[in-house]
Amino acid sequence: MTLLEVENLHKRFRIHALGREVVAFEGLSFTLRPGQFILVTGPNGAGKSSLLRCLYRSYRPSAGRALYHSAQGPLDLVRAADEDIALLRQREIGYVSQFLRPRPRVSALELVAEPLLRLGVPWEEASAKASLLLEELGLKPALWPAYPSTFSGGEQQKVNLARALVRPNRLLLLDEPTASLDAAARGALTERLARLKEAGVALLGIFHHPEEVAGLLDQTLEIPPAPPLLAPNPASVA
Ligand SMILES: Nc1ncnc2c1ncn2[C@@H]1O[C@H](COP(=O)(O)OP(=O)(O)OP(=O)(O)O)[C@@H](O)[C@H]1O
Ligand SMILES: [Mg+2]
Repeated sequence: MTLLEVENLHKRFRIHALGREVVAFEGLSFTLRPGQFILVTGPNGAGKSSLLRCLYRSYRPSAGRALYHSAQGPLDLVRAADEDIALLRQREIGYVSQFLRPRPRVSALELVAEPLLRLGVPWEEASAKASLLLEELGLKPALWPAYPSTFSGGEQQKVNLARALVRPNRLLLLDEPTASLDAAARGALTERLARLKEAGVALLGIFHHPEEVAGLLDQTLEIPPAPPLLAPNPASVA
């Protein structure tokens, strides 16, 4: 059984000031099964983060197909309506970026509990689950009711990770989630990822130090260095 079938996926950005296009990545094809962990590698600027953003649809891919077998049936992440993508983000696809975007006057605990509240889980249960995860990742309890905008980079990243992991996912996209974490939190995350993998969650991740998750990896997707600037291609979507 396959969860995600990516075929000949491309992403280009139009740089209006230069009248040129930047290729983020070209012609990527791979499949991802439930419980499979694929590591995305390649030099700086190869398009690793852009690939994850295209699959989460923060970026719209320029061409190709990404057939995702959701609990409701298959849909192409390249062409799916924004409403369908919003539902997938709420229920099935988690994404962890390297940085948290804190919101004013929202506490760490509330930020982490929020994805569960949105699914209709009552506050007591949601906050209990959020607390467990924050504890697991080693965020000091004194900080749980505080606003993350003043947190250290590592503390913010713990909130960011807990927010993505608090609810069940079928696909988890991880963009250098450990870059600012201490050793204890990296260990806790590796253990958590092992359990998710065992439970059948598919994982696609970029890791600065892949040795941390080496025991969990099934495959490597190497993105070659990006080609130089191209003249505009009118057929592509910016
Ligand atoms: N929003 C954007 N607008 C224009 N160009 C972009 C945008 N996002 C990424 N790019 C370009 O796409 C290319 C790939 O960037 P991306 O961030 O995906 O690389 P990466 O492989 O994640 O690199 P790194 O290892 O440094 O994180 C780069 O040349 C980058 O400048
Ligand atoms: Mg990146």
